[in-house]
Order: sequence, then C-alpha cells, then structure tokens
Amino acid sequence: MKKSFLLAALLFAALEPLKADEGMWLPALISQRIGDMQAKGLQLSAEDIYSVNQASLKDAVVLFGRGCTGELVSDEGLLFTNHHCGYGFIQRHSSVEHDYLKDGFWAMNRSQELPNPGLTVRFLERMEDVTAAVLKGYKPAKMNEEQRQALIKKNSDKLKADAVKEGKGLRASVEALYYGNQYFLFVFREYSDVRLVGAPPSSIGKFGGETDNWMWPRHTGDFSIFRIYAGQDNMPAEYSETNVPYRPKKSLKISRAGVKEGDFTFVYGCPGSTQEYIHSEAVRYIQDISDPEKIALRTTRLNLMKKHMDQSQAVRIQYSSKYAGVANAWKKWQGEEKGLRKNKVVPVKQAYEKRFAEWAVGTRYEGITDRLALLYAAYNPIYRSYEYYNETVRAVEKIQMASGRPVAQKDYYRPIDEEIFVAMVSAFDKALDDSYKPESFLRQRAAFASVEAWKDAVFADDALAKELAEGLDAYYTQVLTPQLRELSSAITLTYRDYMQGQMEFESGRDFYPDANLTLRVAYGKVAGYRPVDAVWYNPVSTLRGIIEKDNPDIFDYNIPQVLRDIYARGGFEEQPVCFLATNHTTGGNSGSPVLNAKGELIGINFDRVWEGTMSDLVYDPEICRNISLDVRYLLFVIKEVGNAAYLFDEMNFAD
Ligand code: ARG
Ligand code: ASP
Repeated sequence: MKKSFLLAALLFAALEPLKADEGMWLPALISQRIGDMQAKGLQLSAEDIYSVNQASLKDAVVLFGRGCTGELVSDEGLLFTNHHCGYGFIQRHSSVEHDYLKDGFWAMNRSQELPNPGLTVRFLERMEDVTAAVLKGYKPAKMNEEQRQALIKKNSDKLKADAVKEGKGLRASVEALYYGNQYFLFVFREYSDVRLVGAPPSSIGKFGGETDNWMWPRHTGDFSIFRIYAGQDNMPAEYSETNVPYRPKKSLKISRAGVKEGDFTFVYGCPGSTQEYIHSEAVRYIQDISDPEKIALRTTRLNLMKKHMDQSQAVRIQYSSKYAGVANAWKKWQGEEKGLRKNKVVPVKQAYEKRFAEWAVGTRYEGITDRLALLYAAYNPIYRSYEYYNETVRAVEKIQMASGRPVAQKDYYRPIDEEIFVAMVSAFDKALDDSYKPESFLRQRAAFASVEAWKDAVFADDALAKELAEGLDAYYTQVLTPQLRELSSAITLTYRDYMQGQMEFESGRDFYPDANLTLRVAYGKVAGYRPVDAVWYNPVSTLRGIIEKDNPDIFDYNIPQVLRDIYARGGFEEQPVCFLATNHTTGGNSGSPVLNAKGELIGINFDRVWEGTMSDLVYDPEICRNISLDVRYLLFVIKEVGNAAYLFDEMNFAD
C-alpha cells in the first residue's frame, strides 16, 4: 500500500514538468504564485508578502538611489544595501585624510552618521492595476495610435496627481506592463535624509574587484549600511539635525541559521530591465552584433586604462571607478553572448515564431512575427550606429567636456584620454558608413593627415573640440534619435499585439511582466551549478577561500591585515561568505534582501554568475544563479573588522 503510493507519487513527479525558478512577479499579484511558492517551501501567506491593509514585507524594501535595492533591518531606520550601491556616497565622504573607501567607515554613534545630499529611498505604498482608468475614453475605431498615447498620458497624469495629493513625500508613476497591455499605478513615499552608518574597507566590500566580478567562487563582502531619517512625524523631511531615525512599518528579522543546497529562498527587490519576450531578430542583433562589437570596443578602452593604471598608483585611484563602470557591462555581455549561443536562443525563438505564425493564421496576429523582423531590419543598423556613437566618441572625456558634460578634473588623466580619442575616433570612423557622421566630423577628418594629428589639434584647441562634440551630439540627438524613436515606437506597438498573441498562443503559461525597476518577487532555491563539463560549483563560499585568494601583490586580492590576523586566531575557517541560488534577478536587484522560507533575512543579493547573464533575455534553470552575500559574513565584518557590534542591539535576530 505504502509502496504503491510512493510509486504513484514518483510517477506523478515525473509527469509534472519541473517548474523552473524563472520569473519576477508583481507583489500585488503574488497570490497567483503563492501556491507554487508554498509548495517549494515558503511558510508565509500572500498577505505577509504584500498587503495594503497591514504591515508586510514590502514595507521593509526600498528602491535605493536610482538603481539599487535596500532593506530595513531595525525599527530605527537601519538599512542594508551593497557596497557598490553606496560606493559613490562613500567616495564623496573620502579624502586623503579619511579614506573611507580604502579603510572603511563606521559611525560609532548616531551623531557620526554622515548625510548624503541627493540620495533618496522610496517605499512602495501601494500598486494597483489601472488599465481601465488609463484607457478610459479610448475608442479603437476612432483613434489612431498618437491619439491613444495622448489619452494614456492625460489619464496617467490625472491618476498620478490624485495619488500624491494625500501626503508628504509621495511620488507616483504609471508603468506600462507587457508592452502596454496592462498599466499599473505605483505610489511611493520618498525619504531624502539617508545617512551613511558603515562600510567595510574596499578590500572587503570590493574584494576580487573586476577579476571576480560576475564570477563564482566569490568572496566579496559587498555591503554598506545606511540609516533613514524622518521628521518628528515620521514623514519625509529634508536633512535636518532635528530629524529622527525613521520608524518603518516593517523591518526584517535576521536569521543566522545559515543556508544549504536546496533551501527555499526569495528575493524582494527592484529589477531594472529584461526582455524575455523579444523576437529572434532582436536576440540575433544582441548576440551577433551588439555584444561582440561593444565588447571589442571596451576591451580596447580597458587595456588603455589598465596600462596607465598599472604604471601609477595615482592614476589607479583616478580611474578605478571609471574602469569598474566600463568593465561591468563588458564582462556581463561576454557571458550573455556565450549563454545565448550555448542555449541556441536564436534558433529556438525562430522555431517558436514559426509555430506562432502557423497558429496565428486567420487571427488578428497573422503576420506579426514577419512584421517585427522587417522592423528590426530597419531599426538595427541605425541602432548600431547609435551604440557606436555611445561607446566610442562619447567615451572620450575631452569630447564629453566639450559638449558640456562635466568630468571630474581630479580624476582626469590626459594621456589616457588622448589614447582613447585616437582609438575610439578611429573605430567609429572605420565601422560606420559616412552617412552616419555629421558634416563637421567629415570636415575635420579631411583637414588632418592622421587621427594622431587630429587628436593633437583637438586637445590643443577647445574651439575645435567643441565643434566636433557639438556636431556629433546634434547629429545623434536631432537626426538619429528621432528616427530611432519612431521605429522603436512602431516596434513597441507591434509587441503590444505580439505579447497578447503569445499569451493566447500559450494560454497555459504563466507570464510575468519584463522588469522595469518596479518592486518584484523572485523565488528559487540555494543551488550550485555546473559551469563546464566535469566541474561542479558548490553554492557556499567561506573565509577559507578569501585566505586562499589573499595576495598582497595583487590589488584585487590584497585583504586588510586585520582580516589575516582574525583568521590566524583560528575558528573562522568555515565562516560563510557568499552563496548561490536560482532566483531570477537582474541589474537593480543589487542590495535586495534574500529571504528564507519564513521571510527572514539570510543574505543580500549583489550579482549573478557570468555564465547565466543571458537571463535578461532567457532564463536557463541549469545555469542562471544569483550571488548573495551571506548575512552572517556581514555580521562578522561589523563585529570583527568594524568593531561596531553595538549596531546589533537594534537588529532583530530570528535565532
Ligand atoms: N556585477 C555587479 C552588478 O552588475 C557588480 C558591479 C559592481 N562591481 C564591480 N566590480 N564593477 O552590478
Ligand atoms: N550587480 C547587479 C546590480 O548592481 C545585479 C545583477 O546584474 O545581477 O544590480
């Protein structure tokens, strides 16, 4: 009896296709996923995750700055995010006397916490489906697309204005989901007094640097700590000494129980952008043209920077942040291109489009995939030139300055910029047809015997630099951008139908809207992966691995002496540092809380593995992994390195 039951269960398990941990779900609609989440281990209800009637987990999560996530971990406004999310602010407080980037920073009491003008955090008050209100008054037969868009704008503006009437610091946005098949109103409360509380030295917070970025095994202590301040009424207020720590509706409990392969986890945060439903031609462009060309251009720039950075410590300091910025996407694209090829995404999408087209005959979706292919044929070459412009001439700081974009003079090293000018202007000129170059560019080019001579002239004569920069800017913003905009709105419009068509075609599939920096929930489990044949990566890294990588001669692996001393005391070999899971995340999810089955904080998301970065286009459960800092390493660093264990007093520990 027992045996046959087991057999039946096994059989059932074999028939039921394994649901991949793909997806970034809207918190307000989480009730549609809660059954699956609970089946996989979640012990919470949908109301615990998102509620407008009671405090829920959403109240402990913020959009941090313009593109990261943070989470509340105390009832006194204490917030965790990544080191790389706080980096710019830590840098601004740093000087030769107080190098907080290098040495770390720890406020030893509230009066030492440092204000950060310009930094805001946003709490989501509520989100709601406003599709009907946004399309109110729309008459398909009588209105063209332009009129439809104008109506949408008018209705959205009204919804937003109404939504922010109610109180202090409210912000609202109306976002199109599924290419405009659905509209959601998001109402946020924005706080602008956010102070720096703590950050580890970069040799911990950025340990591994560009070498380990997007990689596993990883040992980066990528966290920083802030505190949100509010007026006496707990509402948003401009920075003031009389402000008090914000009392959140909800703060996260911290679990020190640890993680192991298979444990349920979920990530609550603000993923920035994905394109999961695009046409094969769009993928082909990314894989065969955009990624490889941009990678090559950035390789050139990075090599030029590195050559000078290796020669001088001063130049290294000047360019490390710029280098990191260029290197980050550069490395991501390499993983993405590889992943797209390995997963045969283009042929798989082509086959899908073929099936779709057959199904669509006689419906209003007939011919839509061919139409998209044609649109891309017109769009891609222009877009390519636009990408070239961005990656080449706009990357020259001299040209940036000449077109009025500020460049920090203290971080400017002219010999690098001169070499970048020669390399990038040559690349731009060589790759693109002259029809993509403004008249002033062609005229200047003709006036000089070589790009070298041209460079000398531009760096010697600001008027010449200005003419070049302004000519390029004018051409790209005034001539090409409108063309691109027109084509891309035609594409978006077609996607609106294609998206709807896909939803009808695959009526059994659960669709989630592409990421757009709005709050989402992704869920999965702690899991290692097989990067290549015969290699298995365990999902947990430890302090032992930091000591293994430690090398005073390699900048990225030179740990602070204090960490060596602590390790030498013994007992910390198994101290967990980072872990992998299958949560579907993307840029913007950095700093997101990683939660266990009970909704307790176990980690802070900060990256993905290189081999899986094509998850922005297609998610492969075998290889797509998010990388999180184990919260226990954060606690370890606060206590042992920062001597700031006083912060634990205000945290709530689950165990
Ligand atoms: N790859 C991570 C992300 O996309 C971390 C980036 C910051 N770190 C760095 N070494 N560049 O944001
Ligand atoms: N590192 C990214 C971020 O800053 C996260 C990712 O792309 O996985 O948001």
